[in-house]
Amino acid sequence: MDHFLYRDGSLHAEDVPLTEIAAAVGTPVYVYSAATLLRHYRLFDEALAWGPHLVCYAVKAASNVAILKLLGDAGAGMDVVSEGEYRRARAAGVPGDRIVFSGVGKTEGEMRHVLAGGVRQINLESEPEMRLLSRVAAEMGVEVPVTVRVNPDVDAKTHEKIATGRSENKFGIPIARAREVYAEIDRLPGLRVVGIDVHIGSQLTDLDPFRQAYRKVAQLTGALRADGHAIERLDLGGGLGIPYARSNLAPPVPQEYGAVIREEVGHLGCEVEIEPGRLIAGNAGLLLASTIYVKEGEGRDFLILDAAMNDLIRPAMYGAHHDIVTVAEPAAGTETRPYDIVGPVCETGDTFAKAREMPQIKARDLVAFRSAGAYGAVMASEYNARPLVPEVLVQGSDWAVIRPRPSYEEMILREAIPQWLSAG
Ligand code: LLP
Repeated sequence: MDHFLYRDGSLHAEDVPLTEIAAAVGTPVYVYSAATLLRHYRLFDEALAWGPHLVCYAVKAASNVAILKLLGDAGAGMDVVSEGEYRRARAAGVPGDRIVFSGVGKTEGEMRHVLAGGVRQINLESEPEMRLLSRVAAEMGVEVPVTVRVNPDVDAKTHEKIATGRSENKFGIPIARAREVYAEIDRLPGLRVVGIDVHIGSQLTDLDPFRQAYRKVAQLTGALRADGHAIERLDLGGGLGIPYARSNLAPPVPQEYGAVIREEVGHLGCEVEIEPGRLIAGNAGLLLASTIYVKEGEGRDFLILDAAMNDLIRPAMYGAHHDIVTVAEPAAGTETRPYDIVGPVCETGDTFAKAREMPQIKARDLVAFRSAGAYGAVMASEYNARPLVPEVLVQGSDWAVIRPRPSYEEMILREAIPQWLSAG
């Protein structure tokens, strides 16, 4: 459930008409609902209430500091994958002991930064990384809590670009080699084993792959404990999918996911961490756009929007579906017609939908891309020299710009013409 509903004939974000935001900020713009973000975070928190746990929001999904502040103040931990994300979480007031540092290629500089600032744990992804972290921690005179991300070789049954738990993927250490790796950690200075980490992919709509992976983690917990390691924390990753099309069968909800976790690892007495991103932010945000032209084509009409692939890359990159709705509520029984919905960028891939049935649309009509809160604004670029898309947060009847649209001057003045080019 989200808080984007039609009221008085017009789509609202909580109590704010989207027309008001479009008029004040312009389009395209991302709009987030605070009530929806908090609701989704709390669903996970409640789903794990049967035992000690921490819901670490995957910052990569939507990393605006205002969103991190909202979730952090509600008690969320954070899962970060770079120094930039770590700094964002800290800037939002999240204490280091609630921040988990994940990621395949942590650099020495990043390690030093988070060790100095404080971190709950570092999830190791490879042996070279483990050895480097040991050296860095020992040099800094600290002992860092670590887990090893194991690759359980489970098919997540999701899009190939976002599946991470097969042996051919670059992520983690093969689960069969985990005991050796944990044994080496014990011999290295500066590292203290606290648990195991696993993450098998994103937009999972079936609980079975989670169950298989968690069962393997439970078995490994037993084996590692028998080897003398203190496994007290299990980081079970993120990945629970969301309904992108209202017409689809809804994927399992956090409560059902929490029940699977309890069944598979609940008996181990470990603190459970999870790292959901998409389910918290996805349906808590939409991308608001305006129609520039309606162009008649050969056998089809094109809706040319002022949002483009640089603002929302998911359709171009993953062939992803986003529901696109008019901000003006269509009257009951309104006839629809098929449109190809595209952006102004000079690539055929800048297509959001083909033959999408929509009510008749005219220039300047506002439309909203639903389910765009996760992996939307964070993946935006300035391709075609289109200024970075702004973001707005709504809470009740309040709203604020949380990332302004840069001016063209700002965009151009970030760059520099070298002396030797400007001299002549
Ligand atoms: N933990 C780790 C280690 C991850 O790699 C990810 C996502 C998450 C947690 C959060 O997963 P979530 O709960 O959001 O599914 N850009 C793609 C999605 C990439 C996901 C990358 N990793 C998309 O737009 O679909």
